[in-house]
Amino acid sequence: MEVNTSIVTETPPGPAGKNHYSKHHYSESHTHNHDHGHSPSNTILTIIISFISIMVLLVVFFIIFVLRRLKFAKKNGTWKDSSSLKNTSSRFIAPNTSNFNSSPDVKDGCLYGGNLSRTPQAPKFRGVQVFTYKELEVATDQFSEKNVIGNGGFGVVYRGVMSDGTVAAIKRLRREGKQGERAFRIEVDLLSRLQSPYLVDLLGYCADQHHRLLIFELMPNGNLQHHLQSSHDQTSPLDWWTRLRIALDCARALEFLHEQAILPVIHRDFKCTNVLLDQNFRAKVSDFGLAKMGSEKINGQISTRVLGTTGYLAPEYVSTGKLTTKSDVYSYGVVLLELLTGRVPVDSRLPPGEHVLVSWALPMLTNREKVVEMVDPVLQGQYSKKELIQIAAIAAMCVQAEADYRPLMTDVVQSLIPLVKNPSSISSSGSLRFQNHAASPSY
Ligand SMILES: Nc1ncnc2c1ncn2[C@@H]1O[C@H](COP(=O)(O)OP(=O)(O)O)[C@@H](O)[C@H]1O
Ligand SMILES: [Mg+2]
Repeated sequence: MEVNTSIVTETPPGPAGKNHYSKHHYSESHTHNHDHGHSPSNTILTIIISFISIMVLLVVFFIIFVLRRLKFAKKNGTWKDSSSLKNTSSRFIAPNTSNFNSSPDVKDGCLYGGNLSRTPQAPKFRGVQVFTYKELEVATDQFSEKNVIGNGGFGVVYRGVMSDGTVAAIKRLRREGKQGERAFRIEVDLLSRLQSPYLVDLLGYCADQHHRLLIFELMPNGNLQHHLQSSHDQTSPLDWWTRLRIALDCARALEFLHEQAILPVIHRDFKCTNVLLDQNFRAKVSDFGLAKMGSEKINGQISTRVLGTTGYLAPEYVSTGKLTTKSDVYSYGVVLLELLTGRVPVDSRLPPGEHVLVSWALPMLTNREKVVEMVDPVLQGQYSKKELIQIAAIAAMCVQAEADYRPLMTDVVQSLIPLVKNPSSISSSGSLRFQNHAASPSY
C-alpha cells in the first residue's frame, strides 16, 4: 500500500496481548500461593473463584484492547471506518484497485461513481455523465487520427463533439496495467468532487468491460508547454503579463488542492503539459492520474513509490519517497522558472552547467544584477526589474532544497496577486495580449 498507513492499520496486538499474558500469569501464581494448606472444598472454591476472576480479567483486557484499537483507528482515519469520507478516499486510492473486468463498480457496462456515491457524507457528484463507448466513437469520428489533440503517459486525447453539440476532450486510457486503472479511478473520484475554476472540468466518463475513457471540457489553447516551447512561427509567444496570470491561476489551483479541498490533495505530476489554457489563456490544472489524498494527521506526509516527471520532482521525494504538499510547491517553482526563462527543466543539448534548469537558475535568481540574464529573450521590454526580482524571489523560495522552507501555495498566491493586479506600465505598453484582456474583470 502506498499510503503510509503502517502505523494506522497495523496496530500490533503484541503489547496488549503481552500485558494480558503477564497479568494472567501473575493471578495464577498468586492464587496458587494463597491456596497452599487449605481443605479440599476450600481449594475447589478458590479454583472456581480464580477461574471466574481470570475470565473477568480476560474480558476486561479484551474490551480495553478493542477500545484502544477503535480509538487508534479513528484518530488516524484508517479505511476501516467506513462512515467517513476520508476513509473512502483512502480505500479508493489504494493501489490494489481491481482490474478492468472485475471492477465491483462496473454494472451493466457502466461505472457508477465508485464507492463514493454510497458514502452518506460524500458530496454529490455534480453533472458527471456516463457515456457509452459507442457515443464516444461517434463523437470522435471513430477515434480518428485527425482528432488527436494530445498524447500523454496514460493515453491519447481526442477532440470530440458530443450529441448535444458540446465540444470536449476525450481521453482514451491505455488498458495495460493497474496504474492505468488507478489513474482512471482517481481522476473520476477527485474531479467529480472538487470544484474549482482552476481545475479542468470533468464532464463524464465511460467504463465498460474493455474501455476506460474520460471526457473533459476542451481547453482550446492546449497545454502550456506547447506555447513555451513551440517555435514562435506556429504560436505567438506568451507575453509577460499572460505568463504572470498563468502563474497565479496555477498557484490558485494548487492552493485549492492543498488547503481548500476536504482532504489535502497532492497533485504529484504538476508540470507544463498538465497546465491547460482556455481561449483567453487562463490556465487550469489537469491530469490527476497520479494524485494522492494526504492526511495532515500523519504530518501531511505519505510514503509512496516515486512517480512523476524528471526535472519536476522535489529532491526529498526522489531520495526518500516521502510525498508532501511541498513536493508540489517544488514542481510549481520549476514551472515558474519555465515561464520566466522559456527553458525546459532538463535539456542535455545545452552547454555543461545549464542542463538542469533549477541548478542553472538558482544562483541567478537571488542576484539582482544577473537575474535579467536568465529571462526568456522574447520577453525583453515587457517587465520592470522590480517585478522580475519579485517573481525570481518566489521561484527561488519554491525550488529550495529544504522542503520546510518552501512557502505554502497560499503565500505564493498572495505574493502574485499584486503583480497581476497592478502590472507595471512597461508590461502594459509592451504586451498585445495584455491589452486584449485588460478589460476582463478577473481579479
Ligand atoms: N481538456 C483538454 N483540452 C485540451 N487538450 C487536452 C485536454 N486534456 C488533455 N489535453 C492534451 O492531452 C495531453 C495529455 O493529456 P493528459 O491528461 O495530461 O494525459 P496523461 O495522463 O496521459 O498525461 C495534454 O498535455 C494536452 O496537450
Ligand atoms: Mg499529462
